Amino acid sequence: MKGIVFTEFLEMVEEGFGYEMVDKLLTESDLPSKGIYSAVGTYPHSEIITLVVNLHKNTQIPLSQLLEAFGEYLFNSLMKAYGHIFQNVNDAFAMLSSIETYIHVQVKKLYPDAQLPTFKVETISENQIIMYYTSERSMGDLAIGLINGCLKHYNESAEIVKEDLNESGSNVKFVITKK
Ligand code: HEM
Repeated sequence: MKGIVFTEFLEMVEEGFGYEMVDKLLTESDLPSKGIYSAVGTYPHSEIITLVVNLHKNTQIPLSQLLEAFGEYLFNSLMKAYGHIFQNVNDAFAMLSSIETYIHVQVKKLYPDAQLPTFKVETISENQIIMYYTSERSMGDLAIGLINGCLKHYNESAEIVKEDLNESGSNVKFVITKK
């Protein structure tokens, strides 16, 4: 997993819970990287799971809620870091429809070792799309947060209904309906 995911996660924890919590998580988590992340480096995916699970243990906030909140935070960070890529994307559905065909394609060009999910998007109407998420990393809750971040970025409001299509969470369906 790319370092930017870790640096942003630790920044969110620091903003929300203070540096003591960051320190506590890194001490408790016993990470191969020792918690030293560079934005362009690559680290085991298991480390982000360990960090989120330990944040959950320390705060009692449900895992799904932590991942969603992180997704929203991460969207803003990604826009700051890579906003130039999307200058021509003008609304949320256009962005969501172009993750697979454009956004993550650009990410892969920048970082050939990036591990990205697959999205299949069906446009139902002007106000509704269905996204099918597939990833062995099973980060559907992170995806909801990223989608929420995207909607907020374009000042749009929509209902997102998530349906797990298998037990592991590697296949997830999102029905997104504009309000
Ligand atoms: C709403 C829009 C987006 C959604 C729903 C989305 C979804 C995701 C998800 C769920 C992951 C976690 C990996 C996995 O599940 O397999 C991911 C990873 C990632 N995405 Fe996106 N993404 C979005 C927009 C973006 C944007 C705007 C960028 C910036 C160019 C970006 C760059 C990345 C990067 C760098 C990773 C980490 C890859 C790695 O760790 O190897 N994504 N994305």
